[in-house]
Amino acid sequence: MSAIPDAARIVRTVRGMAASDGAGVKLTRVIGTPQLPDLDPFLMLDEFGTDRAEDYLAGFPDHPHRGFETVTYMLDGRMRHKDNHGNEGLLVPGSVQWMTAGRGLVHSEMPEQEAGRMRGFQLWINLPAKDKMTAPKYQEFAPDGLPVVTPAPGVSVKLIAGAVDGVSGPIVQPATEPVYLDITLQAGAAWSYRLPDGHNAFAYVYEGGLQLGEGEDARPLAQQELAVLGGGARLQVLAGDAETRLILVAGRPLREPVARHGPFVMNTREELMQAFVDFQQGRF
Ligand code: CO
Repeated sequence: MSAIPDAARIVRTVRGMAASDGAGVKLTRVIGTPQLPDLDPFLMLDEFGTDRAEDYLAGFPDHPHRGFETVTYMLDGRMRHKDNHGNEGLLVPGSVQWMTAGRGLVHSEMPEQEAGRMRGFQLWINLPAKDKMTAPKYQEFAPDGLPVVTPAPGVSVKLIAGAVDGVSGPIVQPATEPVYLDITLQAGAAWSYRLPDGHNAFAYVYEGGLQLGEGEDARPLAQQELAVLGGGARLQVLAGDAETRLILVAGRPLREPVARHGPFVMNTREELMQAFVDFQQGRF
C-alpha cells in the first residue's frame, strides 16, 4: 500500500545491460533482457551512447521488421535511414522517427558521421493483432517539431507523445495511446505527472540521478536504471544535486499473445513462420 494516496506505485527497478546489435553496435539494453523481457506494449528499449566511433561505425545494415513499431529518438549524432519502399531520411540530434513496420519492410540505419558522439534511444512498441499487417508508415519530426514546456521551475519537458499542461506531442497512435516525454530537471528541481489510467509506464534516467515517488515509498533512481510504474497515479520526480535527464514513457497494454523472434513480432507461431517465409520470398 502506498503511504500517500494517489502516489504512483514503483513496481520494480532494473539496470540496463551491455549488449551488441546490428553489425556490432555497442549499446545498453534496458527492456528485452532476462530481468525485464518486456513491459506490454513495450518490447525493447536500447540506449546507445558513446564518443567512440568504433562502437557505432558498423551501424545497422539492411534488416527486416514486421508486426510492431520502432521509435528512434536521437540526442547526439546523425543517422541515415533507408528502406526498400523508397523512404529515406536523416535523423539529426533532437529528432524522432516513429516507424510503424506493419506488414513489413527492410531498412538500414547507418551513422552519417565517422567521429564524435552518437547518443539516443530505440524503443520497440507492439501493435495489436488488427494492425500488425497494415501498410508501413513513418511519423518523423525534426527537433523544432517537438514542443517543449516548462511545467515547474527548473523543469523542461520535450513532448514526443502525450500531453503536459494542455500541450501535446505530435505522435498519434490510437492503438496504445503512448506517452513519451524527455525530461530535464535542474539540480533539486521537482515535478509530478499523472500517469494515464490503465497504462504501463517506465522512467529511465540517462543523466544524473533522482528520487522517485514520495513519502516512505520514495526511492532513488540512478543513471542507467529503469523503474517500472503502475498507471493511473501521480509520479513525483526530484532531481539530486546535479542536472538530471530521464525519459518517461507509458502505453496502454495490448494483453494479446506474443510470438516473437528477432525482428518479427506476431501473435501466433504460424504468423511468425509466415513472416520468415514472406521475408525470404521478398514480400516485404
Ligand atoms: Co531497424
